Amino acid sequence: MDKLEIVGGTPLHGEVIASGAKNAALPILAATLLAEGPVTLSNVPHLNDVTTSVKLLRSVGAEVTFHDGTSLEIDSDSTNDFVAPYELVKTMRASILVLGPLLARFGQADVSLPGGCAIGARPVNLHVEGLAAMGAEISIVDGFVRARAKRLKGARIVLDTVTVTGTENLVMAATLAEGESLIENAAREPEVIDLCEFLTSMGAQIEGAGTSTIRVQGVAVLRGGPYSVMPDRIEIGTYLVGAAMTGGRIKIKRTRPNDLDAVLQKLEECGADVRVDSQSIELDMSGRRPRAVDIRTAPYPGFPTDMQAQFCALNAVAEGTAVITETIFENRFQHALELQRMGANLSIQGNTVVSRGVERLTGAPVMATDLRASASLVLAGLAARGTTLVDRIYHIDRGYECLEEKLAQLGAQIRRRHD
Ligand code: EPZ
Repeated sequence: MDKLEIVGGTPLHGEVIASGAKNAALPILAATLLAEGPVTLSNVPHLNDVTTSVKLLRSVGAEVTFHDGTSLEIDSDSTNDFVAPYELVKTMRASILVLGPLLARFGQADVSLPGGCAIGARPVNLHVEGLAAMGAEISIVDGFVRARAKRLKGARIVLDTVTVTGTENLVMAATLAEGESLIENAAREPEVIDLCEFLTSMGAQIEGAGTSTIRVQGVAVLRGGPYSVMPDRIEIGTYLVGAAMTGGRIKIKRTRPNDLDAVLQKLEECGADVRVDSQSIELDMSGRRPRAVDIRTAPYPGFPTDMQAQFCALNAVAEGTAVITETIFENRFQHALELQRMGANLSIQGNTVVSRGVERLTGAPVMATDLRASASLVLAGLAARGTTLVDRIYHIDRGYECLEEKLAQLGAQIRRRHD
């Protein structure tokens, strides 16, 4: 099993280019099932989750052709199967995103229930209830979500919890439903906006993307075309935290700084100089040690839960005491237990972590448990004294394109071991 070996202590310096956003590419790949005619996607990150999505599209009969590292063509006109099998869904919960498109375009979908994951139970009840409100006959049978509908009907849906993929599934379903749908308490994440812009480019009629009320007027058909995926704000935030933790100076190009307001604000609060222009973000720590910052995760535009683990690592080596509160998932502190093994002085109390920063962490063998937890352990290794060995890095390969190459480009002493 691959491991990442990191020798800490080198400040990150230099420039890297952001990859396309995993959490925009995944719903957009699912949305290609709605289109008549081929869709050409560019800036698609080369990640295991994207590979899994392509397998899923091919398993229902769509044709997928890779043009080069980051662009591919999908033609779903040949779709002739409507099942998302457990073997694929268990490796990527976002497979649930094919439910809305398959149902809306082909009138049927059998999608394996994703089951829980390391960070929480992560039910899909809101996806199911929303589709039922649109007239689908939908039930849970033998571990599958089984859905049938001649044609979905527009409905007013009020989501009792803000759900990113729930919002995305229902918007996709509504694009081909009969009449108008209103999705209230919708997720406002930039990735939801990117999906809506992609759907609109195919002929969907959507208003309010990025607000908590999304209005969709159903149309008869959506037509394929070209689209480029937005930059990955969480990948970008992860590298910026790495520079802040190691006292370095980096510039990230091909970004959309506005997507990261809450994160950039916290980086400035911890003492970083942050400069942005239309497409790049530069962070300069000038060798300083970061100040610890309080974090409370929330749906966008609040502080993103996907950046919580990274800031937990930053607080572990920052000056002072701080509290991190996780309000989205019930079990998203597994990285904290591993950071303690590296000498972090922190305590977990329910959905909060209280940390008192230490001058230096000590490198150690640690184990990744989920995508962002593994990122935080890599960052801790960069700032630690000595060598850190991160195990189970298949978690990282799901969501970070060329992580060790990009970090090495920034001067990190990191290599992948194929033990
Ligand atoms: C998306 O997951 C992201 N994944 C997650 O990123 C991210 O952490 C999360 O949104 C929150 O921002 C993708 O976009 C592929 P939710 P999602 O539905 O949609 C509850 C990463 O690291 N809920 O917004 O699955 C749920 O339990 C991943 O890239 C229900 O109760 O998350 C959670 O408490 C991790 N019923 C809350 O809503 C439902 O039907 C928010 O979850 C759906 C969700």
